[in-house]
Parts: sequence; structure tokens; C-alpha cells
Amino acid sequence: MIDLDFDRRHIWHPYASMKNPLPVFPVSAASGVRLHLEDGRELVDGMSSWWAAVHGYNHPVLNRAAREQLRRMSHVMFGGLTHEPAVKLARQLVAITPDSLDRVFFSDSGSVAVEIAIKMAVQYWGALSRPAKKRMLALRCGYHGDTFGAMSVSDPLTGMHSLFRGAIQEQLFAPSPECRYGEPCRDDDISAMVRLLEEHHHELAAVIVEPMVQGAGGMRFYSPDWLVRLRELCTAFGVLLVFDEIATGFGRTGKMFAMEHAGVVPDILCVGKALTGGYMSLAATLASPEVADAISSGEPGLFMHGPTFMANPLATAVASASVGLLQSGDWQASVRRIETGLRRGLEPCRGFEGVVDVRVLGAIGVVELERPVDMASIQQEFVRRGVWVRPFGRLVYLMPPFIIEDRDLDLLTAVVREVVAGEVAGR
Ligand SMILES: Cc1ncc(COP(=O)(O)O)c(C=O)c1O
Repeated sequence: MIDLDFDRRHIWHPYASMKNPLPVFPVSAASGVRLHLEDGRELVDGMSSWWAAVHGYNHPVLNRAAREQLRRMSHVMFGGLTHEPAVKLARQLVAITPDSLDRVFFSDSGSVAVEIAIKMAVQYWGALSRPAKKRMLALRCGYHGDTFGAMSVSDPLTGMHSLFRGAIQEQLFAPSPECRYGEPCRDDDISAMVRLLEEHHHELAAVIVEPMVQGAGGMRFYSPDWLVRLRELCTAFGVLLVFDEIATGFGRTGKMFAMEHAGVVPDILCVGKALTGGYMSLAATLASPEVADAISSGEPGLFMHGPTFMANPLATAVASASVGLLQSGDWQASVRRIETGLRRGLEPCRGFEGVVDVRVLGAIGVVELERPVDMASIQQEFVRRGVWVRPFGRLVYLMPPFIIEDRDLDLLTAVVREVVAGEVAGR
């Protein structure tokens, strides 16, 4: 049995207190869309382990890829060496992303991929003899990770920048786009961004955004038109554009990458999470040849980054198998089916008092409440009803693995309806 008392006293969980931690549930195994708890209960997974497990758990193809790679080598350093899984995965990433993003830097996690993007942007301008261009412009309600650079471009309020004042770089922020998915972008919707670019382009290295869907900062879906305008502005003002597709990449929004909704291409792209199908931590930052060549031509003639586990063979082998599953399967049909199921199942929540919005895009369904949920009690309610859903703040949301069957999806949405109804009734 897992020693929960030891866990409670010694192990830090995400965004948790060590004095007064919320309860955690011991998982002994996971397969398909089910998490198996130690006490024998099964939970239908509505979270894909934070966007990552798109193919579900314990997938035979990914298991085989891991086993086969384990027989050869689980890790070798990437300095001075290379290997087939890294080359194969880079080739796949170059094939499924826009043509102009063809220089691949592998790293260990989403946050680090964002750090790398920021460093690339800063080094790029330094190499072009524009060293003043060091700052980043980001969006309110954005989330890009928990390391200092990634935090610096995440929402200053929810990211509690005030706690780290002086230690964290001060970046610039534009309001989150008000034009929603499906609506046009009016001049007003982007005017603050225009103003910031006009005033600060001389000191800006890049704009960084999560295209189409702002995830952990509020699960907001915005207009593709807004992204089209942003691309034009960045080009006009000579500022690089970074897309963080760490959450949205690999099919989640109904397109392989969310930027495809708008048909625009950034100068730098970050991917992670579902890259390995959720098997292990791996991320990548892709850059255009222009960015990579400028960095490589400036002082000191190289890019200043090289983590120990860069392009880990085990992780790249599983990632390659995971991307292969997407390339060979009809994930679009699955995501369309999930989108329909989420709409059908969550839409009734719109009628509940205390619910301010219901929105669905691809395999993401969100119920936004007026007030923050009581995490400890709502989590218990979900588990008691046999599903794994982890709300945050005022948001109850689902993003199940693409392999989920309608029966399980219906259970997820029915439980969300029930639990939200109880929550807003003040249980
Ligand atoms: C859009 C986005 N960027 C970056 C990150 C950070 O990734 P990681 O947690 O792997 O460091 C996340 C994680 O939730 C994310 O959603």
C-alpha cells in the first residue's frame, strides 16, 4: 500500500501546502481511459493527465516503443552524439509543422521549451546587433510554465508575480483577446496590443502567446482573426512571434496545431505535453532557419543551451511512436466525436444559476462558474462518482484522451452536470 502519511508529510504536490495539503488519491495503475485506485475503484479520466495522455494509458504501441528502445539504450548524452529516435522524431516534427519551422531543439519539459524560446529570441536580436531587444510581450490570462522565464510571461496576477518581485524579469502584457472563437477581431480587440508594439518594439524581442486557447490561465478560446492580426503586427514592427502549443498541440483543438485554425505561422514554436503521448517528460522548441542562422552567425556562434537529458532516447522513441499514431490514425474523427459529446453533455449547465459560460472547442469542454469551487469537496464528489476531473478556480473542464468511448464520455459529462449543479446550489 502507498504510504499516504509519508506522502503527506514529505512530498510536495503541485501548487500545494506542506502544512495543510489537500488529500491525494493513490493510483496503482492506468489503462485506456481508466485510472485504477489502490482501493480497487476505477476512475474515468477526464484530464488526460493535463493535456498529455492523448492516446490513453498503457497503450500497446507506446509500450512497445519504450521496451524496444530500453533494450538499445535509455539514455546517452546529446553533446557530440546523436541517435535514431531523435532524428526520426525531428523529421516527424518538421513534417507536421509549417515548412518554415525546421530547426528543432529538444528539451525536458514545457517550461524549459519556453525558456529556450525566450533565449532564442534574445540571442537572435543580439546577433543582429540589436541588443536592446530583450523584453517579451505576453497576454494577460496566459500560462507558459513555472520556471522564472516562463513565469515572467505568464499572467502576473494568477502567477503571483508580486511574490517574486525583483527576482523575476518584468515583461509587458496586453489584455487577453475579448473576441471569442468564431467571432471576428475588431480593431478594439487588438488596439492595446498595437499600442504596446508601437511604444515598445525597439526593446521587444518577441511576443509570446498560446494560440487560440489560453489554457491554465483561464481556458479562454479566442478568435483566429486575432492571431492573423497579431502575425501581421509582429512582422510590421520587427518583433518575433512565439507560439506556445505545449497544451494545444497534437490535435487537442481539432487541428494538429491550434495555429492552423488561423493559418498563421510563428517564428518559434514550443511543443510538449502530448508529444510523448504523456509517457514521459519531453518538449521541443522549433525555430525558423532565419532565427537559427542568425543565432549561429552571431557571437559566440552557438545557441547557449544544452540540458543533460536533451533528446533522451527513451522519450524521443516513445514520442516518435506517439506522433506516428497520430499520423496514421483518424484522430480528427475522434476529436470531432468528442466535441459533439462535450457540447451535448455540458450545454445544459448553461441553464444553471451560478454558471456564467459553457464552451467547447475540439476535445476541450469548459464550464465556467461565477465563484471558485471548493477544491477539497468537489474533488471528492468527482471521485465518489467514478471520474477523474480536477477543476481550478472557477473552471470545471474536461479534456479526455482521444480514445474515449461515447459511454465513458457521457458518464464524464453527466457527472460534471450533477456535481456542478450541487456546487452552485451551495452544497
Ligand atoms: C501552454 C503551456 N505552456 C507551458 C507549460 C509548462 O509545461 P510543463 O509543465 O511541462 O513545464 C504548460 C503546462 O501546463 C502549458 O499549459
